[in-house]
Amino acid sequence: MRIKNLNLKNFRNYADERLDFSEGLNVLFGRNAQGKTNCAEAVYYLCTGTSPRSKRDRQLIRHGEEYAEISALAEGRYGNIDIYAKITENGREIKINGNRITRNADILGNLFCVFFSPHELRLIQDGPDERRRFLNVSISQLSRPYYIALSRYNRILEQRNNLLKEKNTDIIFDSLPVWDEELCKYAATVARRRADFIEKLAPIAAEAHSFLTEGAEELKISPEKKYKGSEEELKKRIYNELSANYERDLRLGFTSCGPHRDDFEIAINGVDAKTYASQGQTRTAALSIKLAEVEIFKELSGEYPVLVLDDVMSELDLPRRKKLVERTGGLQTILTCTHAERVLYGISSNKIRIEGGKVKR
Ligand SMILES: Nc1ncnc2c1ncn2[C@@H]1O[C@H](COP(=O)(O)OP(=O)(O)OP(=O)(O)O)[C@@H](O)[C@H]1O
Ligand SMILES: [Mg+2]
Repeated sequence: MRIKNLNLKNFRNYADERLDFSEGLNVLFGRNAQGKTNCAEAVYYLCTGTSPRSKRDRQLIRHGEEYAEISALAEGRYGNIDIYAKITENGREIKINGNRITRNADILGNLFCVFFSPHELRLIQDGPDERRRFLNVSISQLSRPYYIALSRYNRILEQRNNLLKEKNTDIIFDSLPVWDEELCKYAATVARRRADFIEKLAPIAAEAHSFLTEGAEELKISPEKKYKGSEEELKKRIYNELSANYERDLRLGFTSCGPHRDDFEIAINGVDAKTYASQGQTRTAALSIKLAEVEIFKELSGEYPVLVLDDVMSELDLPRRKKLVERTGGLQTILTCTHAERVLYGISSNKIRIEGGKVKR
């Protein structure tokens, strides 16, 4: 997959600009606060239908304007893809090859990107929420059934949690089995696919981490151990777990078990990364996970995704930077940084200078 160009109109600090990307490495460089991350964000938005940093789409509209437009022309193995998004105060319109998209699920799976930004460090440093978010975004891009199961799971979970706050406990005990019959079905799909994904991811991420550190560090990712077995088996097990915790859920006022509480472990050289990893190690581990994601995308979708690396180089020492650039050779990569020369080490690239929301030619 390759993005040929990106067009931004009234998007963030851009008035009306077009960026042309080449195959291989594209470096967006410029001083702080000029609009480099904004470009990376626009690419991510066209891939996933959401911003990696704003909950509200309206924040994407350039101050003082009424709408924002983002579009990209990409080339995939099935031909050209033209993705267009128009964001207004009241909503948005998305078109793929001129056809209007009405369901969020239809945005996913057209343009593939793997996205790294400093925010992704939370994947290592923060609590389980961030790791689940990572799994949800990655797997949703690859699997529509996952996205649908996750959306339904979340909806039913919310209703179940509302029920748990009901005053009449007879109503609660009568209704829970009915909700859980539905809930465990989607929970099993989510849990099974997450476990499969982590199983695939772990060895590739370990290999990437070893590559970036020239064998000095070992990265180990371990999934939730309880998710062994088929989806059907998981469904029964989750149903039983939910049933066994009625009293506790009632006391807490929310559902205390299920995939919305799951986590996975990340260790470097045998110790928990969250507690012990240095900044450079944390960044390297997060990157290795992203590089593994790239390979999984390739395996499952048949083509490489676009790799977007926002502000990836800081905190990495020179050998790790060089290894990273070496590793991404062959992929279309969009990389942002403040000093183009320092990250490139003679590797040819398409350099784009960004200044005050403009592309400087
Ligand atoms: N809706 C908006 N309208 C106008 N300007 C905006 C909007 N949203 C963000 N900006 C501005 O865009 C500018 C550039 O942001 P961006 O995050 O892309 O910078 P950057 O080039 O990545 O900088 P850094 O090197 O510090 O990461 C910021 O100064 C921000 O105030
Ligand atoms: Mg930035």
